[in-house]
Order: sequence, then structure tokens, then C-alpha cells
Amino acid sequence: MGLFSSAADQAKRAVAEAALAYVPRGQVIGVGTGSTANFFIDMLGDLRQQIVGAVASSEATAQRLKKVGIEVLDLNSVNDLPVYVDGADEISPDLHLIKGGGGALTREKIVAAVARQFVCIADESKCVDILGRFPLPVEVIPMARAYVARELVRLGGAPDLRIGVTTDNGNCILDVHGLEILNPIEMEREINQITGVVTVGLFARRPANVALIGGANGVRRLEARA
Ligand code: A5P
Repeated sequence: MGLFSSAADQAKRAVAEAALAYVPRGQVIGVGTGSTANFFIDMLGDLRQQIVGAVASSEATAQRLKKVGIEVLDLNSVNDLPVYVDGADEISPDLHLIKGGGGALTREKIVAAVARQFVCIADESKCVDILGRFPLPVEVIPMARAYVARELVRLGGAPDLRIGVTTDNGNCILDVHGLEILNPIEMEREINQITGVVTVGLFARRPANVALIGGANGVRRLEARA
């Protein structure tokens, strides 16, 4: 059951604060997108003198980072990214994630791929036993939209075009309903292989390393099972 919005905000604020302990001083940090990441960005502003800068997973995050005085760096100019902090739409016990509710899944996946440690921050309403209740976002090259949708139906999903949304990369998003994702690693691979798919918002081949989950009893820390 979801938290009421004020309680959820409190939980998001608590995990954002807990994530500050993971910020590598004197280095570059990767920063994600969404309301939980926004709490983190606002707090990261206080540490701006202690970090070199940040890599952003979206244009919105880049703007917000700049607003709090943090330099935004091009990922191509960064050789080492010790930590990436971002939210999620669903989190499994293995720290496999569904992401992309905010539409930033492709850049999020790129930054997560480069980062050595992925710290996921979320309120406890995001924790599930099996991924798939949250519609799975898939970023698609616009001319392949109908073809990819048919292929996703073949995989058992019910894709819906996210109306009025163009990603930072100029693509569209299909939200796939009705999936019970029992094998996230295999499903990520299968969807990635559909021609025209840019990114699927399943983060299973590269899960989070740590999840900081906020709830009524404070913040608990989950680690990926070995
Ligand atoms: C952005 O594209 C998403 O992956 C977000 O990380 C996710 O939607 C979580 O957002 P909230 O923190 O707003 O729930």
C-alpha cells in the first residue's frame, strides 16, 4: 500500500539525506531523475564545495544541479564515476529495478552502467516481490513504435504509448502493462533485442548495489544478494 504523500515525501527526504554519506568527496557523482532524486540534489547543494561536479541523467536534473551551484559534466569527459544515486519505480528483493516513470530511463541506464556503485533511494511503496505491477517503460525510435508494440504483445504485455512525451533523446515511450516479470534478466535481454528499442526500463543486468528504503520506522539499507 502506498504512503500518503506527506509521509512519502518525508521518507524520500530521509533516504536522500542518508545517501549523502555515499557521496565521494573530491570526485564526480552521478545523479538521477525524479522527485526522490530532487530531494537529494537540493541537499547535495550544501556539499558543492566538496565535489568536483556531477553527471546528470536528464536535462531536468542538469538544470536543478546548476541551480544549486553544482557543475554539470559531460559523461564523456569523466573517466571514473564512483557512485550514482537515483530513485526507482519498483524494487525487487534482488535490487532489480523498474525505472523510467519520469522518462529518463536511457540516460539513467547509461550513467548506472558507468558507475561503480549504484545507490537507489526510494520510499517503501516502491518495494515489490515481483516486478511488473508498475507499467514497464520502453524507449523506442519513433518509426519503430508500432512494430515494437506488436513484439511486446507477443511477449505477453499490453503496451500503451505515453501520449505527449518525447524523451531527451527525441524518442517515444511505450508503457507496458500486464507483465509479471519472473525472470528480469532474461526479459531485459529479450526486450533489448527488439529492433527499434533504445532502452528498456528494467535494471536487472545492472541492478542497484544498495537500496536505501524510507518508511515509518526510518531508513533501512538493503544490499544486492551475491
Ligand atoms: C525517472 O525516469 C525514473 O526512473 C525515476 O527514477 C523514477 O520514476 C522514480 O521517481 P520518483 O522518485 O519521483 O518516484
